[in-house]
Amino acid sequence: MRSLHVLGGKPLFGALRVQGAKNSALPILAAAVLAEGVSVIRNCPWLSDTDAAVRILREIGCRVWLDGEALYVDSSGPVRPEIPEGLMREMRSSVVFLGPLLARCGEVRLSAPGGCEIGARPIDLHLLALRSMGAEIEERGGTLNCRAKCLRGCRVDLPFPSVGATENAVLAACLGRGETLLTNAAREPEIADLQRFLNAAGASVSGAGSSVIRVQGVKRLHGAAHQVIPDRIAASTWLAACAAAGGDVKLYDTEWRHYRPVLRTLKEMGCDLQTGENLVRIRSTGKLKAAGPVVTRPYPGFPTDAQPLIMAAALRAEGATAFRETIFESRLRHVPELLRMGADIRTEGRCALVWGVPKLRGAEVRASDLRGGAALVIAALAAEGETRICGSEHLDRGYESVETSLTELGAEIERKEDRDG
Ligand code: UD1
Repeated sequence: MRSLHVLGGKPLFGALRVQGAKNSALPILAAAVLAEGVSVIRNCPWLSDTDAAVRILREIGCRVWLDGEALYVDSSGPVRPEIPEGLMREMRSSVVFLGPLLARCGEVRLSAPGGCEIGARPIDLHLLALRSMGAEIEERGGTLNCRAKCLRGCRVDLPFPSVGATENAVLAACLGRGETLLTNAAREPEIADLQRFLNAAGASVSGAGSSVIRVQGVKRLHGAAHQVIPDRIAASTWLAACAAAGGDVKLYDTEWRHYRPVLRTLKEMGCDLQTGENLVRIRSTGKLKAAGPVVTRPYPGFPTDAQPLIMAAALRAEGATAFRETIFESRLRHVPELLRMGADIRTEGRCALVWGVPKLRGAEVRASDLRGGAALVIAALAAEGETRICGSEHLDRGYESVETSLTELGAEIERKEDRDG
């Protein structure tokens, strides 16, 4: 096992390119299964989650290779509609392969993805959408057996705008017979990105980015080229880090319109933010003040993935910042670790009240999920002394290399082999 060692107290200066969006790349890789032929995916971030998606693609019979900066997926050969349990367990979002495999093969067998560190994460809404389209789904002993000779277009009213369920429904409907109308769909920019890929591959999808999506089924899709949008959560991470540690950082290759609520909160906290075309600049003295309540909501609301990041930035802010997590049930697991660093946080259920403290101190802490881990890194950058963050592999699910990016900005951060495991 390896851990991250951070020597805090140094402001961040410099410029960083923002990686491609993990949450776009994963469904687009799954969509490549539908697009019979060769798809070329550019700006695909290289993460342990994308590696897991590539292993799934290979396992089901696709050829995948990297050429220069582009990832190629050839799905023209036969596709096996089965994903081994180990791969399903490795990445929760592997469930996004369900819709494409069902649409392409007429059947699919996979183990239900388990719960994970931020809550139970059921897939009932995914199944509701697929069943409405005529899929027969049997759940037995943790295995899902799905069958649909022909998926037919229909109306699906999602009770909650789930990102994954929206993606699965759209993916399955692409090869369905007739029109599918999806209401209360998730509006995340990653869904609009998926629509762009699908349409380039010959699908007929409209409305993504709004809460009503229409999919007109077509007979088949072909390979397509696509450039993944920039990652709004990675960008929010670097901004929160600079806010907390102080400094002057420019982010390029970023779409700031995708994370306006994060920018608004950082401004309220006293950071100076400037935006330009594909560019954001943040200047922070490191002396922040508490912002109004941070309540996570589906897009375009405050993103749940940025809640731990802003909480870390709020630890030394003057006054109290209230957080309410409405999307996931246990997404405050970074709190006990932040307390070890001297933070003052009181929690009740899914709410947390953070009282700013004059200083944080380095400590031994453990990351138990991706963004919670990023929050610990941010807190460590603003703390006095050294912090050792165990569980650094969680960060590799979402950041190409957190230590390389932050070192470029002048942080003292290193990954070390643990002697004691
Ligand atoms: C996606 C993102 C994740 C982000 C989340 C919310 C990817 C790969 N991951 O996750 O980073 O935090 O959106 O913005 O894109 N739910 C159900 N039943 C379902 C599906 C979801 O009850 O069938 C619940 C979940 O338990 C959760 C909430 O709905 O409480 C949101 O889940 P969802 O929007 O589906 O998130 P993901 O697609 O899993």
